[in-house]
Amino acid sequence: MGRRRRRRGCLLGLLLWVSWIAVSVDGARMDGVSKHTLQVKRHLKRLNKPPVNTIQSPDGDVIDCVNISEQPAFDHPYLKDHKIQMRPSFHPEGLFDESKVATTASTERASPINQPWHGNGRCLENTIPIRRTKEEDVLRASSVKRYGRKTSRSIPKPRSTDPSLINESGHQHAIAYVEGDKFYGAKATINVWTPTIDQPNEFSLSQLWVLGGSFGEDLNSIEAGWQVSPDLYGDNNTRLFTYWTSDAYQATGCYNLLCSGFIQVNSEIAMGASISPVSTYRNPQYDINILIWKDPKEGHWWMQFGNDYVLGYWPSFLFSYLADSASMIEWGGEVVNTEADGQHTSTQMGSGHFPEEGFGKASYFRNIQVVDASNNLKAPQGIGTFTEQSNCYDIQTGSNADWGRYFYYGGPGKNPNCP
Ligand SMILES: *[C@@H]1O[C@H](CO)[C@@H](O)[C@H](O)[C@H]1NC(C)=O
Ligand SMILES: *[C@@H]1O[C@H](CO)[C@@H](O)[C@H](O)[C@H]1NC(C)=O
Ligand SMILES: *[C@@H]1O[C@H](CO)[C@@H](O)[C@H](O)[C@H]1NC(C)=O
Repeated sequence: MGRRRRRRGCLLGLLLWVSWIAVSVDGARMDGVSKHTLQVKRHLKRLNKPPVNTIQSPDGDVIDCVNISEQPAFDHPYLKDHKIQMRPSFHPEGLFDESKVATTASTERASPINQPWHGNGRCLENTIPIRRTKEEDVLRASSVKRYGRKTSRSIPKPRSTDPSLINESGHQHAIAYVEGDKFYGAKATINVWTPTIDQPNEFSLSQLWVLGGSFGEDLNSIEAGWQVSPDLYGDNNTRLFTYWTSDAYQATGCYNLLCSGFIQVNSEIAMGASISPVSTYRNPQYDINILIWKDPKEGHWWMQFGNDYVLGYWPSFLFSYLADSASMIEWGGEVVNTEADGQHTSTQMGSGHFPEEGFGKASYFRNIQVVDASNNLKAPQGIGTFTEQSNCYDIQTGSNADWGRYFYYGGPGKNPNCP
């Protein structure tokens, strides 16, 4: 029996080797263009797992319901024998549990945030919804390898003394942060908008960052929020996203499920899919709840969307610093400015309006909280704020009984004070 399996293994190895030779010879004969096409096709095959069923979303997306045990995470060699954990062992407790807080008159609660594809079907139990990557999605990326990845140097580093680090990359932020403690998670209720994007390769996002390490080459980061990114998705829709990296955006990590790492257990929410409704100026406001926390028993980092959806987890082994705890939490907005010659982009952050305008006009984060070592949610102490150019995008913090710690943030980008 053992010998037979070994012989079969050898045969398989030989076959793989022969086919590799065949591909290499083939590759040498091909010109650059068809080689790239082949590379794209291979990458799509890796990303798009065979679906159990498929749902066409009205916004143009295709949602594949993929067997939970065949999701991209399991391509990771470390996850070969991983037993999926269907629910966290612990859930953080806290004051601002949305289900316990009285409805605030100012915030629309009647229609909770939804994903448009739900109108055309649902995924079965034990399958997970994955936004299908199309060929044109990959072709928009600068290279197959860069598809689904952030560029390095996009991490907001408050109080940096190196101005080139801050301004050179073109990434601009308006964030609130806490540091100098051990954090085991973070939560926020994030106002949802559709900012206008000036250039197709720019983006605008609003998110929280759970950071470990000291902004070196080995920075660990777990991120989640909403984004508008024509480059990544091919449209201007507001989409739910996650991101992770364990080496400052260099070789590891990606958006959503675009690489092996995050293990999804939820069959209702697709990462990277659009969310609706979105807020508009002087009209009802909509917001989403995001909670990321470290399960004290298994050590994995879990993510919850809204009050009902535990999406899944990033296994602890993906990280170095975050395998223990986070050293910094950030909340806020980021845009990328690709304008040359010192001109500023008119890509909006948040609602595209400055914090001074307040509710219904400016974009907000409310009930921002951190998870402490006893797995309790609590209001962060000693919040700092940071923005590269407050005349372009700004932030203002506050606190009250209804909203806990909150801030308004964002702006229009290019304007008379930000030329
Ligand atoms: C998912 O895959 C597992 C193992 O490959 C299999 O046992 C199970 O029947 C599949 N489930 C569905 C819904 O196809
Ligand atoms: C996205 O919005 C920009 C600015 O409004 C517009 O120029 C562009 O055509 C839109 N892109 C898509 C794919 O709809
Ligand atoms: C970034 O560059 C802008 C424009 O050159 C400048 O006004 C601003 O002070 C710089 N910000 C920082 C933090 O260095």
